[in-house]
Amino acid sequence: MDLLTSFSFATVPLILSAPGATKELGPELRARFPAIRRVLLVTDQGFLRTGLADAPIHSLRAAMFHVEQFTEVVADPPEHVIEKALVLAREHDIELVIGLGGGSSMDVAKLVAVLANSAQSMAEIYGIGNVHGSRLPLVQIPTTAGTGSEVTNISIVTTGATTKKGVVAPQLYADMAILDAELTIGLPPAVTAATGIDAMVHAIEAYTSKHKKNPLSDGLARQALSLLSRHLIRACENGHDLAARQAMLLGAMLAGQAFANAPVAAVHALAYPIGGIFHVPHGLSNSLVLPHVLRFNAEACVEQYAELATIVVPHVDGSVAARAEALAVAMQQFGTITGLPRTLSQVGITASDLDLLADDAMKQVRLLGNNPRTVTREDAYALYKLAL
Ligand SMILES: NC(=O)c1ccc[n+]([C@@H]2O[C@H](COP(=O)([O-])OP(=O)(O)OC[C@H]3O[C@@H](n4cnc5c(N)ncnc54)[C@H](O)[C@@H]3O)[C@@H](O)[C@H]2O)c1
Ligand SMILES: [Fe+2]
Repeated sequence: MDLLTSFSFATVPLILSAPGATKELGPELRARFPAIRRVLLVTDQGFLRTGLADAPIHSLRAAMFHVEQFTEVVADPPEHVIEKALVLAREHDIELVIGLGGGSSMDVAKLVAVLANSAQSMAEIYGIGNVHGSRLPLVQIPTTAGTGSEVTNISIVTTGATTKKGVVAPQLYADMAILDAELTIGLPPAVTAATGIDAMVHAIEAYTSKHKKNPLSDGLARQALSLLSRHLIRACENGHDLAARQAMLLGAMLAGQAFANAPVAAVHALAYPIGGIFHVPHGLSNSLVLPHVLRFNAEACVEQYAELATIVVPHVDGSVAARAEALAVAMQQFGTITGLPRTLSQVGITASDLDLLADDAMKQVRLLGNNPRTVTREDAYALYKLAL
């Protein structure tokens, strides 16, 4: 890294990392938001079924918060879900929003906090820096160790049958993020694996981001990758391993801090159409294209991949190229060991779908612009073909 390179770095001002912390959510928030009464909890049915939302809700009520719940978040949330949550927030004059769930719930919570008291519509805020004014106080509590959305300034919305759009704005940084591994013990192994690989991709892509790579993101990405690679298998094999679960949450958050400031690239650009068109979960979509994009990119950032290989594969040696290849192999193995599908065919995609995927991937101009190597339409098609 050239020490004369200018950069800026932003993150959430307060992070609380403590297993069991959300059992004391009421007193925690009462101390920090003394004047607030009416809060909206944004979550989804899958998390609610674990019963793990009961203790934080009880704690909030005991601390004299009036709690409304919006429980209709679905994976890859469409616009109408956000609109419905907004109606509820306005109806009850909500003063603080809590996102409790995976990236989907936290992304909805962000937009509710931003739009509840705003004259702007959803359509006006897509893109970068289009949010005007302030938002409601916002607290984010992840229940997957994946997206890092609790510390990013991004919200991803499904806008059509197969398309997604992002809102990127400083107002989307929460006031507080809480990492409580007890909330993640019920996460099934396949979701643990896919979301954990998503977090590792955030770290890898931040470390090699073409325009905004910076020393703070680099350090965070390295530490994230170390935590995630050492604890992913443990967390999949024994979901009740609280230390492994807390390490995964911490790693995912560090990766989130890294990529909020050094954005992700071609792995995500190629993964989005797989999720959008075929409804494959975000982390799994990433893992299906990951090894192929790593090998494709290696000619542009082989040294950086070799550096990351020493973290993921501690005893790796050989040439820079051999170490970069070891990173691709290791990342592929995480998917194999945890039993995730390994090819596009295994998730129902056929050769006749690849043109559509490649066309869609090329629309991810913002992400492709961050990639260390230029990706043409032909490259995108070839990468999907390798993943088939
Ligand atoms: N804002 C960002 O910075 C950012 C970054 C990457 C991805 N995303 C977005 O985040 C979404 C994906 O988020 P995700 O991967 O966390 O998945 P998710 O929020 O969609 O949840 C996946 C599934 O896991 C279940 N679940 C969540 N927590 C659980 C728990 N503790 N126990 C049992 N089940 C649980 C949910 O009910 C759901 O069925 C996508 O919409 C993606 O586009 C956002
Ligand atoms: Fe991601």
